[in-house]
Amino acid sequence: MIRQLVPTPVDPNSAGRDFWNRYHQLRRLRHKELRPDDPFEPDEVVEKSMKKPNPFDLQHYYEISRDGVMVSWFHGESVTPANPEYETNKHLFWADAYVRVEERRKGIATLWLPVIARLMDERGSTVVGMHTDQASGHAFLTWLGGKPKLTDIESRLKLSDVDWSMMQRWNDEGATRSPQTKLEIYDGPLPEAMLPEFAAQRTTLLNTIPFENLDIGDIVVTPEKIRHYYEVTALTGEVPHEVLTRESDGSISGMTDVSWYPYRRKMLEQQFTGVRPDARGRGLGKWIKAAMLLHVRDLYPDAEWVVTENAESNGPMLKINRTMGFKSYRTAVEYQTTRDQMESRIRAV
Ligand SMILES: CC(C)(COP(=O)(O)OP(=O)(O)OC[C@H]1O[C@@H](n2cnc3c(N)ncnc32)[C@H](O)[C@@H]1OP(=O)(O)O)[C@@H](O)C(=O)NCCC(=O)NCCS
Repeated sequence: MIRQLVPTPVDPNSAGRDFWNRYHQLRRLRHKELRPDDPFEPDEVVEKSMKKPNPFDLQHYYEISRDGVMVSWFHGESVTPANPEYETNKHLFWADAYVRVEERRKGIATLWLPVIARLMDERGSTVVGMHTDQASGHAFLTWLGGKPKLTDIESRLKLSDVDWSMMQRWNDEGATRSPQTKLEIYDGPLPEAMLPEFAAQRTTLLNTIPFENLDIGDIVVTPEKIRHYYEVTALTGEVPHEVLTRESDGSISGMTDVSWYPYRRKMLEQQFTGVRPDARGRGLGKWIKAAMLLHVRDLYPDAEWVVTENAESNGPMLKINRTMGFKSYRTAVEYQTTRDQMESRIRAV
């Protein structure tokens, strides 16, 4: 039966309504199965972001459908030569697949392996990464020869449980302990003139994140990439918020960002938080996180949760988050395997 199933590339910009209907139907099933408690990303938001050209990351979309019903979806990602991360990331390919529950264990995900292999060969990639928080995903990725490389914990903070007097104290103590340091808050895109300095400092800080054993190249943020991100937020309605600290010489020493989305008003997303290594140990991390939480509480009175993700090994960040009241919600594992290992799997099928 599965012999008749053919992986077919999808171009979001030329795909017709039939495609979007069967794709959104599969997205709903996936959401109901894997993320029932999370807000659902609306169809028009997904369509807009998939249609938006991305000069920095190539998106590879494929479907397997039968009689007008999508059975499986595949999404791959790889860096483009225009991405300043290209040199250190071009050996990496990232992949994600989903198969309808009633169509599993028939070898359908296995049909993606030659597709991934060909895309990797075209890009010159030698390592493929995939992540899962599902028993079926762990079993499939282990069968594929994937090695667990990074454990990621999603944690959630219930705003009604927050000890707000502790947040106020962290905020006040941050300022008292570092009287020379100034805190700044930005709602929406940062001023254009700040982008070069902000991008450079963010690059430094992002590269201090522990990624455990994950094969990952350099992270390079540029003003062009930030502008692209702002173009996407303008399409999707996402509102970014930034809290940062500046030392007396004017340099940025810490940053934290939270996003609000119109279709997930009850759930804010805590994104990256980083403090420059030479400024650590002065309570800046607690200061910026507390200042951000106090700020978004006032801005969004209907928000109920803040969601964040950290590497399981990220002791300092998890310590701050746990003290704030973030509780572990689910755990995902990033697996990686080589092109060669995948080839032996393809040949064994
Ligand atoms: C992971 C997933 C894509 C696998 O799809 P599938 O079409 O059922 O996979 P296949 O039939 O091609 O499985 C190939 C082999 O993987 C292993 N495997 C897959 N699912 C398994 C399961 N639930 N339990 C045990 N082994 C499993 C088996 O060895 C299987 O071969 P076999 O059936 O001959 O024993 C599917 O279960 C899914 O969509 N899960 C949710 C999303 C997810 O976690 N994706 C992560 C991958 S990016």
